[in-house]
Amino acid sequence: LNFHANKERRYILEILFNGLRRLEYRGYDSAGIAIDDSSTISSPPLVFRQAGNIESLVNSVNEEITNTDLNLDEVFYFHAGIAHTRWATHGEPAPRNSHPQSSGPGDDFLVVHNGVITNYEVLKETLVRHGFTFDSDTDTEVIPKLAKFVFDKANEEGEQTVQFCEVVFEVMRHLEGAYALIFKSWHYPNELIACKLGSPLLLGVKVSNSLSLESRGTFHCSRHSLRLLAWNSVELLQIITLFFRLAFSLTGSKSFGFELDQGKSNSHVFQDAHFLSKNDHPKEFFLSSDPHALVEHTKKVLVIEDGEVVHLKDGGVTILKSENERGRRNGISRIASVERALSVLEMEVEQINKGKYDHYMQKEIHEQPESLTTTMRGRLIRGGSRKTKTVLLGGLKDHLKTIRRSRRIVFIGCGTSYNAALASRPILEELSGIPVSMEIASDLWDRQGPIYREDTAVFVSQSGETADTLLALDYARENGALCVGITNTVGSSIARKTHCGVHINAGAEIGVASTKAYTSQIVVMVMLALAIGSDTISSQKRREAIIDGLLDLPYKVKEVLKLDEEMKDLAQLLIDEQSLLVFGRGYNYATALEGALKVKEVALMHSEGILAGEMKHGPLALVDENLPIAVIATRDACFSKQQSVIQQLHARKGRLIVMCSKGDAASVSSSGSCRAIEVPQVEDCLQPVVNIVPLQLLAYHLTVLRGHNVDQPRNLAKSVTTQ
Ligand code: G6P
Repeated sequence: LNFHANKERRYILEILFNGLRRLEYRGYDSAGIAIDDSSTISSPPLVFRQAGNIESLVNSVNEEITNTDLNLDEVFYFHAGIAHTRWATHGEPAPRNSHPQSSGPGDDFLVVHNGVITNYEVLKETLVRHGFTFDSDTDTEVIPKLAKFVFDKANEEGEQTVQFCEVVFEVMRHLEGAYALIFKSWHYPNELIACKLGSPLLLGVKVSNSLSLESRGTFHCSRHSLRLLAWNSVELLQIITLFFRLAFSLTGSKSFGFELDQGKSNSHVFQDAHFLSKNDHPKEFFLSSDPHALVEHTKKVLVIEDGEVVHLKDGGVTILKSENERGRRNGISRIASVERALSVLEMEVEQINKGKYDHYMQKEIHEQPESLTTTMRGRLIRGGSRKTKTVLLGGLKDHLKTIRRSRRIVFIGCGTSYNAALASRPILEELSGIPVSMEIASDLWDRQGPIYREDTAVFVSQSGETADTLLALDYARENGALCVGITNTVGSSIARKTHCGVHINAGAEIGVASTKAYTSQIVVMVMLALAIGSDTISSQKRREAIIDGLLDLPYKVKEVLKLDEEMKDLAQLLIDEQSLLVFGRGYNYATALEGALKVKEVALMHSEGILAGEMKHGPLALVDENLPIAVIATRDACFSKQQSVIQQLHARKGRLIVMCSKGDAASVSSSGSCRAIEVPQVEDCLQPVVNIVPLQLLAYHLTVLRGHNVDQPRNLAKSVTTQ
């Protein structure tokens, strides 16, 4: 948070705490905050760090306020504050490992970080040799210490004080891995610097007179609109000189040089920008890893790109890019100004509230009829000369021919997104006639599995930011495949890096366990199959039946949600169990995997999804009268095979819960006792959407009954932006 507006300390704390609460679903094992100590003199900031969730931090800050008589009414005209909620990668959750991480005594530089620094050990060794001592086990701590090193060195050697962004550029040059960083330093009061590589970062801009901005929507860099950043050539030359000196002293290398892009150097800053009205001035800036922390303050955002540096100072912003890729190879750095457009968030504050529900997961399960409707909106139409029902996916229409010519389609994702792709595989194979292979993103990368120019690689990701999926995407692009993105997050890295794609439009999903995004992903991939197969006359009837089924799907999901009480009752029966097996096959193998994943991740109960065809090859050994086993046996081409699975399990006195189509309860229980869950029957390829709902409800109720945190399961995070 950076602003120039008379605000009390109370306001600043509230904004930062609320921001953290909004981001808590991304990490929640420890948290920290840094705010200015004084509104009049430049002094080391107040830093608070705490293990546990955000409320633990809030409580410890409140305690401190009471103990130290900190004045909450103190008014700041300028202020720069930072805060962080952590999902531990290096080092246990503890105050010393929480962010902001510090440069050392005096807190000259403070840094919050999302990502992983892969070369931190080398940097740490170098810094230790220069006299730095380390207090945490984190990879992040090298960053503020490196900033301090660069700052001290520059001030020793330079004739004038080094600028904040010069320090950050130099630090960035030495970092490897993935990061979104915000730097705060009391040497630079009222300033914040942010930069990113690989991890997401958004800048939100709140203006004093937002009325005219509201009516504009997007701003382009023209005479009549907003121009973000630039730099004048004097400053540029200063940076270059300084870079040269610092790079030389830090690395001992003699091969540094710089290239100027004079043509692009400008001296426009935010205050001079062409707003519609002279009264429109940015008052507050927000930097965040995702839009949830921004939307209640502003919808005007800039998606920061890799390598860009955002410099907030005294109510203005400048953005600069150091194209240092070439610099790494041959010692040439090139600095160019960045001209960018602000975009408008398509997200409402209500979406990120729980409404009448107790938990986000519960809300998201119950809003699936609406989210599915939104996913399909405008995409199922009557088209062509014969006005047949067809699918229109705007983001793919120019690429369908290429996809149809692919030698193979490869689905790539992690967790629930992978399961959604698996559920859609059979219909894609059927309607496209193209072989479809499945890849868990990390495994593809580990194996460096073959990906060819003739492949279409489909990347499925709710967040659009999963590090493993992004790495696989870079790999597929390098190998020349056509890359298609299926994400829920407009402007996410996967949405931007793929050649084309489809947004699932399921709305914000906050519960760590994915529910509504899963069903919307399946629907999008069924629509993808329909679109690819739309030129095949022989399958037209089948396609039309699926489209009818899609249109009816929200109603069927509404119907299946009525099982809520029944699933709560079942959860009560399973509350003390250690394990639950889930058997599925065909379209519903994915349902078995996803149902088990839900139970495992939120209810913290061991659960395994098993391909029923493999039952005789191992899992049958586990069957006895105690272990609960769920079998998915709704009507489709695999129904008779599932009936025989049920009989074999009955024969071994298995404790069965059978999910079957409406009216089949008696027949599935004929060979032995079992608890039947009847669900509405829909088109086979859409059945996974209906069938997962009772399992989502079961996982939800089991979690609540077992007393675990539904929305923030132990050790997990919604968006895993580290490998
Ligand atoms: C994490 C989440 C899962 C999610 C997976 C993939 O593990 O906890 O719920 O399915 O990441 O995330 P993505 O955003 O790529 O779908």
